[in-house]
Amino acid sequence: MMHRLVVEARRRAAPVAMAAGGVAGGERWMSSSAASKGRLVGKIALITGGASGLGKAAAREFIEEGAGAVVLADINSKLGLETAHELGPDAHFVHCDVAVEDSVAAAVDAAVARHGRLDVMLNSAGVVGPLTPGTSRVASLDLAQFDSVMSVNVRGTLAGIKHAARAMLAAAPAGAGGGGGGAGGSILCMASVSGILGGLGTYLYSVSKFAIAGIVKAAAAELSRLGVRVNCISPYAVPTPMVLGQFSAMLGGAADEAQVAAIVRGLGELRGATCEAVDIARAAVYLASDDAKYVSGHNLVVDGGFTSYKHMNLPFPTKPHE
Ligand SMILES: NC(=O)c1ccc[n+]([C@@H]2O[C@H](COP(=O)([O-])OP(=O)(O)OC[C@H]3O[C@@H](n4cnc5c(N)ncnc54)[C@H](O)[C@@H]3O)[C@@H](O)[C@H]2O)c1
Repeated sequence: MMHRLVVEARRRAAPVAMAAGGVAGGERWMSSSAASKGRLVGKIALITGGASGLGKAAAREFIEEGAGAVVLADINSKLGLETAHELGPDAHFVHCDVAVEDSVAAAVDAAVARHGRLDVMLNSAGVVGPLTPGTSRVASLDLAQFDSVMSVNVRGTLAGIKHAARAMLAAAPAGAGGGGGGAGGSILCMASVSGILGGLGTYLYSVSKFAIAGIVKAAAAELSRLGVRVNCISPYAVPTPMVLGQFSAMLGGAADEAQVAAIVRGLGELRGATCEAVDIARAAVYLASDDAKYVSGHNLVVDGGFTSYKHMNLPFPTKPHE
């Protein structure tokens, strides 16, 4: 089984590996080669979960696009400080537990106090929760575990939207929202393909991600009229620490990290490409930037088509009148 997964993953990813000069594993998921830079010049961004994974990749891309400052708000102080150091002087770290509202409020207030305003809020902090019968079978669902994941993924995201909106609306020029200019600002949230199709994650994770797309629409209904855009991104599987840990657990430790990453990359539908953290980061750049100035309430799905169709393996004719 393990061998079959790895071989299939390598077969599917082969054209990409060749195009990328055969680079495999390691930091490839963090690489950046976008030609267009400067789309976030001067913008002040706060990223929850910015110490690792997709939040870190977005922080890197925001800085490369000219962001004035990127505040990494994360529960993991050691990693957060290391990441801020790695990303350079435009990044800095604040400790934040998104499950605690006061902590989110304090992170937003610290960003505004230091930089004068908040232009972009990316709510990327998230957890998958454990993979057990208590999380994957409804008849034995562990509701305490459910509450724990919801408190980070859903309540934490809602707290992020709340306090980002508070800061963005407070900075609005007089008369904003009343017909002239709006407050301005872009709030982004990480949803997931697990919030589009059932069966891709545990109950805890899947339900929490379905909720994100709903929260975004509810918030956009109010905030769009005040000039603040609210959107989410639904990524496909990217081999970040979260996903590598989850797949390793599923495989019972039968694969090393490079093998697990290869398996994750091999799961996609789109031939010749794999889903990388930078693909999600670039989606975040777009939604954060003025390129998306009229986009609000949207769920930008970055999945290579995975959630768009299901094949029935019908014998469609390949020639006219066949
Ligand atoms: N990686 C994927 O394939 C994938 C796919 C779809 C959606 N997502 C979503 O993207 C987001 C980021 O995931 P990732 O893959 O980068 O995971 P990750 O584990 O690499 O990063 C998550 C970050 O969130 C932080 N965090 C966790 N709990 C927190 C809390 N209570 N307060 C503040 N920070 C906290 C962690 O310390 C970590 O730095 C999550 O919301 C996840 O659900 C990821």
